[in-house]
Amino acid sequence: MALLSPSSSSSRHSMALVVALLLLMAMAARSGVASLLYDQIDITWGQDHSFFYMDGDLDTLALCLDEARGGSGFASKDAYLYGRFDIDIMLVANNSAGTVATFYLMPDDVPWEYHDEVDLEFLGNSTGEPYTLHTNIYVNGVGGREQQFRLWFDPTTDFHTYSIEWNTKHIIILVDGTPVRVYSNDATRGVAFPTWQRMRLHGSLWNAEEWATQGGRVKTDWTQAPFYAYYRNLRVTPCVPSPGVAWCGDEPPESTWFDQRLDAAALQRMQGESMIYDYCADQKRFKDKGFPKECTTD
Ligand SMILES: *[C@@H]1O[C@H](CO)[C@@H](O)[C@H](O)[C@H]1NC(C)=O
Ligand SMILES: *[C@@H]1O[C@H](CO)[C@@H](O)[C@H](O)[C@H]1NC(C)=O
Repeated sequence: MALLSPSSSSSRHSMALVVALLLLMAMAARSGVASLLYDQIDITWGQDHSFFYMDGDLDTLALCLDEARGGSGFASKDAYLYGRFDIDIMLVANNSAGTVATFYLMPDDVPWEYHDEVDLEFLGNSTGEPYTLHTNIYVNGVGGREQQFRLWFDPTTDFHTYSIEWNTKHIIILVDGTPVRVYSNDATRGVAFPTWQRMRLHGSLWNAEEWATQGGRVKTDWTQAPFYAYYRNLRVTPCVPSPGVAWCGDEPPESTWFDQRLDAAALQRMQGESMIYDYCADQKRFKDKGFPKECTTD
């Protein structure tokens, strides 16, 4: 019952939570729903203004951002070494400038030199202007691997599925089942790749007006607050090894099992259509020190 945070200020809000909770339990009992989001995650900050509700059969988390209380976030109860993570998100509607909603993998507290992260951030915009999907990958405390995408639909009117597949060979980011980004494990060439520590799945909604929208020129319009981003239908599939292999960390290097998980043609097509920034193509940025290893083929 960690949901009922003692810091809940308004008793009306608490009542709503209790009702939502009873509904969830009734729902689960009636339909035998395997996994409720409510059971899979903990709200880790902003407990007093974010909440779960039922939408049909789906329990949905509304993450809230307002000026007085700030943003909110959640983390999965379990941590995973490799897996596929799918979640449905509906982003802040109308004027979402300054807001950022996220979905990412990260280990629990470790020294920064061990910090790994697979990051999706949805940068809000003024009404009618497009969101940017900003992605980054940190390995051993080093990030700077940004790729950005323009979504080919309005992410605020409906739920869309965003996915991270993390296996021993690739990290693949997918939107509605279509790969938009891949980062490959190329250890023989010294490319860093997260291979050993469990990561937890996180999501959040926060105020990033200093940089998020049009380079920080457009600030959050607090008269539009509270802002909400909705998350539901989290599906976690642990890594499935190839036949004859005990677990996916033991995959022999010559195995092509995980390569088959990647639709390379679809990836290329989507990148051609929707990629708006690629660090591996940023000549100016790497003019002096040279491109990171994963950007080169030699
Ligand atoms: C967005 O704007 C539309 C049209 O003005 C309105 O009906 C809707 O309630 C707004 N949505 C939010 C989340 O404010
Ligand atoms: C917001 O809209 C402007 C104008 O269409 C666009 O240049 C920008 O990339 C969009 N996204 C963000 C996050 O600023």
